[in-house]
Amino acid sequence: MKRRIGILTSGGDCPGLNATIRGVAKACYEKFGEDVEIVGIEDGYFGLINNMCKEMKQSDFSGILTTGGTIFGTKRTPFKKMQVIEEDNVDKVKAMKATYKKQKLDCLLTLGGNGTHKTANLLSTEGLNVIGLPKTIDNDIWGTSVTFGFHTAVDTATDVIDRLHSTANSHGRILVAEIMGNKAGWLTLYAGIAGGADMIVIPEIPYDIEKLAEACEKREQKGFSIMAVAEGAFDKTEAKMKKKERAKFRAEQGISTATSRIASQIEQLTGRETRVCVPGHMLRGGSPSAYDRVLATKFGVRAAELISKDKYGYAVAMINEKVSENPLEEVAGKTKFVPADDQMVKTAKEIGIVFGD
Ligand code: F6P
Repeated sequence: MKRRIGILTSGGDCPGLNATIRGVAKACYEKFGEDVEIVGIEDGYFGLINNMCKEMKQSDFSGILTTGGTIFGTKRTPFKKMQVIEEDNVDKVKAMKATYKKQKLDCLLTLGGNGTHKTANLLSTEGLNVIGLPKTIDNDIWGTSVTFGFHTAVDTATDVIDRLHSTANSHGRILVAEIMGNKAGWLTLYAGIAGGADMIVIPEIPYDIEKLAEACEKREQKGFSIMAVAEGAFDKTEAKMKKKERAKFRAEQGISTATSRIASQIEQLTGRETRVCVPGHMLRGGSPSAYDRVLATKFGVRAAELISKDKYGYAVAMINEKVSENPLEEVAGKTKFVPADDQMVKTAKEIGIVFGD
């Protein structure tokens, strides 16, 4: 039986996308030999809407294990707009289904994060054979203990924090590192512990600025402090607000991110020089770590197994340390947050890391 497989990468990129694509492709060529054709869809769902597809050769999947980014390109096509007809008058769901049909696809593999999985589920309910693969440096996809890209980003963020120690020490300063993660604080939590941060601030644990300042003052005799702050962090007052209300409040106050506000408030409260470091998209770039290359390969192989069993409507996942899958409908629309009683939070607290709660 011939199989024609479409693959796309959607949302923000991360290290390990190419390693996963390679894993799927290699396993499919092993399993199905001549009976498989792979179609690369460019720029995520945007490419699926606009029929931007290219016929792939087996050799196209060689030499990409170590490369960052994605050979197919990616784009953010927000889920909330998927069923909305905009100015271009395009019915996006209809267009995606038309491309699937036109390309004679037997199934579609979507590599992405939470938004990608929501659209994958929508397409699955529309009758397409879809398999999702969990990508994000944020590690916030429900139902999987780990996503590919996360551990490479932890390594990079840890390196950033490591490098802040000596300069913070030399100047006797407080250094605040802003780590990506708008909703969930996994990356900040892991890199904060690995990098020896003194304070960790994450969206799941709203902070009290007085407590953070107090912790910096307690470290006075050491002369410096390192604070790892997730980009989406907010304080206890903002925690009581709805998302829109919080955005309005921030705009009125002229606050861009929690990090810049924390830094200026800490400087005022402690009288110590405070600086902000934003590694930003550096955390999404570069070659995947050995861990992520292995994980990506395992996830890719699982997707090929699902295809061989014609098992669709699933999202590949790591469950109890085994590669498995969850129904897409269970994953879609959920976010895996850091629980306040998470073991990693406890571990951090046990060694005196302050969360400001
Ligand atoms: O979801 C991954 C992520 O890197 C988040 O941590 C971050 O908030 C966001 O993407 C940034 O997105 P963009 O690259 O579109 O600015």
